[in-house]
Amino acid sequence: MAFVNLILFNIFLVSVNCELPRINGLKLSFMEPIGVYVEWNTVPYKSMPLIKGYKVKLWSIEEQTTRNFKLLNGDQYPGLQRNDIAQEPFSIEHISKNNVSVITNSNAYYNMARIFMSIDNLYEIRVNTFNATAEGPMTDPIRVKIVKSVTEYTMSPKVVKPRPIYKALGLRRIDSCGVSIITNSSDGEPFIHNSYL
Ligand SMILES: *[C@@H]1O[C@H](CO)[C@@H](O)[C@H](O)[C@H]1NC(C)=O
Ligand SMILES: *[C@@H]1O[C@H](CO)[C@@H](O)[C@H](O)[C@H]1NC(C)=O
Ligand SMILES: *[C@@H]1O[C@H](CO)[C@@H](O)[C@H](O)[C@H]1NC(C)=O
Repeated sequence: MAFVNLILFNIFLVSVNCELPRINGLKLSFMEPIGVYVEWNTVPYKSMPLIKGYKVKLWSIEEQTTRNFKLLNGDQYPGLQRNDIAQEPFSIEHISKNNVSVITNSNAYYNMARIFMSIDNLYEIRVNTFNATAEGPMTDPIRVKIVKSVTEYTMSPKVVKPRPIYKALGLRRIDSCGVSIITNSSDGEPFIHNSYL
């Protein structure tokens, strides 16, 4: 009788603890050639037996692009201005209907992934845990985009020198956003690329 009680008690414990855990600390950083290194906190040690691993999901988000010339740099000469505007709402509730690519890490200790992206494409990234039958709640989304200065460059006939290459990584989170510039030069010609992630 004591034996049976013990088993029931164990089943009860498992069933109250089986919610798949949420992931915290999602971070993205620039990766060569074009992409991001994605990292998050592993789930707490006691939750590890509940999960088989992590899924990193990547959606490509559509944008609308407009271009126009504008006087830049103290009105010296016209520069190209380009505007990209995301065509899908950015929120915790919205899940893009676009096809999703999934990277599966079948190991609860393996808390990173490398994502190769196309330049100038906007992506949304979320991560969750999974077990054999279910998936845990997704992290809040992060939007990310990398742009590069080489293909479209403002012409200035007076200046002839090696073209510096600029790459900019734009990130948008639910509560913040930011841009990092990666370049091999400290000067360049004006080019404005507005991206509304
Ligand atoms: C997976 O997790 C869900 C709930 O989060 C749970 O109901 C289910 O029993 C788990 N499946 C396995 C095989 O552990
Ligand atoms: C999305 O996936 C579906 C089914 O796998 C496929 O038929 C469709 O062509 C895909 N669409 C794009 C834009 O890749
Ligand atoms: C920056 O790198 C590109 C390609 O790697 C090269 O063509 C260019 O000359 C470099 N610019 C400078 C200023 O070093």
